[in-house]
Amino acid sequence: MKILVTGGLGFIGSHTVVELVNAGYEPVIVDDLSNSDPKILDQIARIIGYKPVFHKLDLCDERGVKELAVNEPDIQGIIHFAASKAVGESVQKPLKYYRNNFYSLINLLDAYYGNPLNFVFSSSCTVYGQPEHLPVNETAPIQPAQSPYGNTKQIAEEILRDLIASGSNYKVISLRYFNPVGAHETALIGELPIGVPQNLVPFITQTAIGKREKITVFGDDYDTPDGSCVRDYIHVVDLAKAHVAALKLLEKESFKGYDVFNIGTGKGNTVLDVIHAFERTTGVKLNYEIGPRREGDVEKVWGDVTKSANKLGWKAELDIDTMMLSAWEWEKYIAQNPL
Ligand code: UD1
Repeated sequence: MKILVTGGLGFIGSHTVVELVNAGYEPVIVDDLSNSDPKILDQIARIIGYKPVFHKLDLCDERGVKELAVNEPDIQGIIHFAASKAVGESVQKPLKYYRNNFYSLINLLDAYYGNPLNFVFSSSCTVYGQPEHLPVNETAPIQPAQSPYGNTKQIAEEILRDLIASGSNYKVISLRYFNPVGAHETALIGELPIGVPQNLVPFITQTAIGKREKITVFGDDYDTPDGSCVRDYIHVVDLAKAHVAALKLLEKESFKGYDVFNIGTGKGNTVLDVIHAFERTTGVKLNYEIGPRREGDVEKVWGDVTKSANKLGWKAELDIDTMMLSAWEWEKYIAQNPL
């Protein structure tokens, strides 16, 4: 079964391509290489034993997407990762975010419109803002978005819901990711930030390897066990497997329309927990300092994953130590084997 994976050379996309092959699917990758490296295709090939089909394409190019649908007509599912994702940049360049994240989604849905297609959308726990109740479940109210990036995830979910309500042939699952970290056990693929990393774990590994002088903990005066923010960190391989589970559910006759699932571990860790887990598992001491809060950060969020366990039949299996160790192995690999 052919599955179109947009953003398939990115961090989550590349790991999902591998899990799709493990589950017997045939991935077809689309990526514009704006935030990924074409050599990731070779890295994927080293894991799965062959080079998957790859189309270099910007999904904002409407004609290009129409051509793609003509050239790849027998696609049975789409996993749509391709999107801009830097929260801070989205505040500076809102139009870039609205253009990239909406044009691409709409062009894709349009190009394959009419086919009975299964569609998995990459959403985010950012839609919950700071939830009132923790762990947060899928029925929690959507909060006003704190950034254009967050807004694109909320509105994209609404677009998909409206599409289903209109009686379209699509079936759709939105997966609300918590914080994906870690890397593949082979250390052949992982997170590849361009420039200074914005996210915690790549910043940790780059500090440990000496690319960054120190890491700043953004605030230690929050109402949390040690004062630093709490997140639900999830291993990217577990997250990748959630996409396979979503496809399997979509393939069932009994599944109709639209649904949404939290994809996390159900456990929260503070920033300091993550730093200490990294030090403990790798034996590398981190140069870190406590700094001021980062604007726009939520204090604490972790997911209720009961619905994913019950309906999706999926559960995260890998712990924070495995996340840290694999991220470190990847950082060391990439330092020795620059792409
Ligand atoms: C946020 C969103 C997530 C979104 C992601 C996109 C929330 C809760 N999460 O992730 O849905 O997909 O942006 O990038 O809205 N930190 C430091 N020092 C650093 C870097 C980070 O202390 O150098 C802290 C942050 O303050 C935060 C935690 O580490 O508490 C995780 O930060 P990060 O990795 O950037 O992810 P989120 O901001 O949680």
